[in-house]
Amino acid sequence: MIDVRCICAIGQRGQLGLNGRLPWEGNSDALFVEDVTRFFAITMGHVLIAGPKTIASVPDFAFRDRTIDVIRSHEAPEAVLARYPGRRIFVGGGISVWNVYAKYIQHWDVTRLPYDGEADRWFDPAWLVGGPLRT
Ligand SMILES: NC(=O)c1ccc[n+]([C@@H]2O[C@H](COP(=O)([O-])OP(=O)(O)OC[C@H]3O[C@@H](n4cnc5c(N)ncnc54)[C@H](OP(=O)(O)O)[C@@H]3O)[C@@H](O)[C@H]2O)c1
Repeated sequence: MIDVRCICAIGQRGQLGLNGRLPWEGNSDALFVEDVTRFFAITMGHVLIAGPKTIASVPDFAFRDRTIDVIRSHEAPEAVLARYPGRRIFVGGGISVWNVYAKYIQHWDVTRLPYDGEADRWFDPAWLVGGPLRT
């Protein structure tokens, strides 16, 4: 079985994104800073695939020590995943990406942060059981 995972962070009600960024971006409280540090530590040396908006918000330094691939909707998920035999692949979002790739993800690492403000992107718990586009 290929090693396909997800690591993400959500707010108290599943907030994921706001205006193309993390909703809590700029919050320098320890829990938020630790979460970002942990994301880069866990994905280091591995493959991160994600949609164009998510990758646009990845800082330059992160491209040095992991493989980052902007994936597009015209690409078949099986073909994308087959590019990285033997590698650990993190599916980094966004929403429509997780809708399609959820069924391949065998390990979810979700941090629930103490944020309860607005959002325009939301976590869907159905992803944890391979949905919502399960076939
Ligand atoms: N909290 C977190 O952990 C976390 C993690 C990731 C993202 N986010 C947030 O989420 C937001 C960005 O996500 P987003 O959903 O707006 O945009 P996105 O990252 O660009 O992802 C969606 C895009 O992925 C592309 N895509 C690639 N493969 C696809 C497939 N098989 N099926 C469907 N679409 C596919 C599509 O673009 P094309 O049709 O143009 O190819 C689609 O519009 C930001 O606010 C970001 O900060 C938060």
